[in-house]
Amino acid sequence: MDVGVSTRDVQQFDGDAVAVGIFSDDKELQGPAAAVDEAMAGVIARLRDSGEITGAADELTLVHTFGKIEPERVAVVGLGARKHFNLERVRRASAISCRALRKAGAKRIGLALAWAESGVNLAQAARAATEGALLGLYRFDRYKSAATQEGGADDEVGGVDGASAETSERAAKELDSITILGRGREPALRAAVTRGQILAEATNFARDLGNEPANVLTPTEFAERARRMAEEVGLDCEIFGPERMRELKMGALLGVAQGSAEEPRFIILRYRGGARDEPGLALAGKGITFDTGGISIKPAADMDAMKMDMCGGAAVVGAMMAIARLKPAVNVTGLVPATENMPGGKAYRPGDILRAANGKTIEIVNTDAEGRLVLADALSYAIEHKYSPIVDIATLTGAIVISLGHLRAGLFSNDEALVRQIQASAESAGERVWPMPMDAEYGAMIKSEIADVKQTGGRAGGAISAAKVLSNFVDNTPWAHLDIAGVNARDKREPDGDKGATGFGVRLFVELATQLAERKGDRSRAVEATV
Ligand code: BES
Ligand code: ZN
Ligand code: ZN
Repeated sequence: MDVGVSTRDVQQFDGDAVAVGIFSDDKELQGPAAAVDEAMAGVIARLRDSGEITGAADELTLVHTFGKIEPERVAVVGLGARKHFNLERVRRASAISCRALRKAGAKRIGLALAWAESGVNLAQAARAATEGALLGLYRFDRYKSAATQEGGADDEVGGVDGASAETSERAAKELDSITILGRGREPALRAAVTRGQILAEATNFARDLGNEPANVLTPTEFAERARRMAEEVGLDCEIFGPERMRELKMGALLGVAQGSAEEPRFIILRYRGGARDEPGLALAGKGITFDTGGISIKPAADMDAMKMDMCGGAAVVGAMMAIARLKPAVNVTGLVPATENMPGGKAYRPGDILRAANGKTIEIVNTDAEGRLVLADALSYAIEHKYSPIVDIATLTGAIVISLGHLRAGLFSNDEALVRQIQASAESAGERVWPMPMDAEYGAMIKSEIADVKQTGGRAGGAISAAKVLSNFVDNTPWAHLDIAGVNARDKREPDGDKGATGFGVRLFVELATQLAERKGDRSRAVEATV
């Protein structure tokens, strides 16, 4: 998909359709909406007077232009009240308009969502609109043959949808181009749009990995896709099989993997944009390609969702893809321990004791708590290589879903400065996190009488005891853990994405790497200034 910018007036945009935004509390139409209205003899104003268009957030109305202006269709999208307008609204408005216009058969879309009139930063708005469009247009339909494609409830979100009767086939419909229409410094707008596109494409890449069924995305295939991506964007990629894992004494990862007929993989992606002698940031993602629970087997209901138990790993791989394309001045290493968690004659059992790569022993209580085990070896590897800070991301516990629901990821850490940094990154990425407690006393839950650490700490505070287990493998290095079990997937479509994997974490990580690079720049400039 081609995404560009143009400083042309909306009436002159030479595509099939444009989207214009309207605020709910404006007395008069403004900006692009006013321009289109004037060219079309007051049609939009009349629809507003009649109450058909109110400007409420997420409202969408398609209007035909019958040759009055260049584009054939106008999508009038509600932006809500001015005082609540922000980049999130831009993302949603962009997503809703693009989906509706694609459904209506448009190929070349222009977006003029009243940014000049809203007070938001134009470059940031252009980036948000690009992200919203590409994330909103995403769908995972590669296994649906043309004959079974359908329009379905595709675009019902967002209210009025003039296009709903016009379509029955999704298959033929892909957009060719999206153009952000705005009056601003073109190079700055172009850079912002490119950044938005890189972030959205990386997020969609992570979503694809998450949505692939587990019979396709085995650990081997996961590693292959990471390797292919690495080749395309110029990342260094190394993949360990079971033999190398045994040499490195990754007994926790191997323990989980031993019940599966599929071989495990340990994926390493390296990006170097910083100082030669600095290990830099490590991102570690849980890569369980299917979690049956193992011998402590899960109930059948919703077990299919456990094909997405590798979304942490996918977020790391997606973030590395965007980082390679954006080239921040920092070193970043992505680590993904990938395996299935299966029951069987060779599977590990409750009561077993496993030894992780850092030498610590873990008393197994429940084979369904496998994520912390594979991460124990990934974190040990990160410590061994002196990466700092270390951030892991995992669909780790059902308990975090009980704590925070499906809106925010749980953020655990041993370092307050890192917590603030991740909160700031999450904020500018538009992904939500919430800090969770890590008091030393919680450690009592995972004391073992026969090993160095007990694998689980019971139902109460389950997400916290899981984080405490992880903390055993990071020494005193600044470390943070994101539990994304509540946000890695959704069970119905929303404006910012389809049902299925969300790609949560990709944008947050890219933002974090960017901010670390910028801070380092600030610091070395400060040093230069003082000498
Ligand atoms: N992959 C699951 C956690 C999960 C639950 C992810 C729901 C997404 C949605 C994890 O491996 C798991 O099963 N955790 C157990 C741990 C327990 C046995 C201590 C859990 O949360 O129930
Ligand atoms: Zn599990
Ligand atoms: Zn799991």
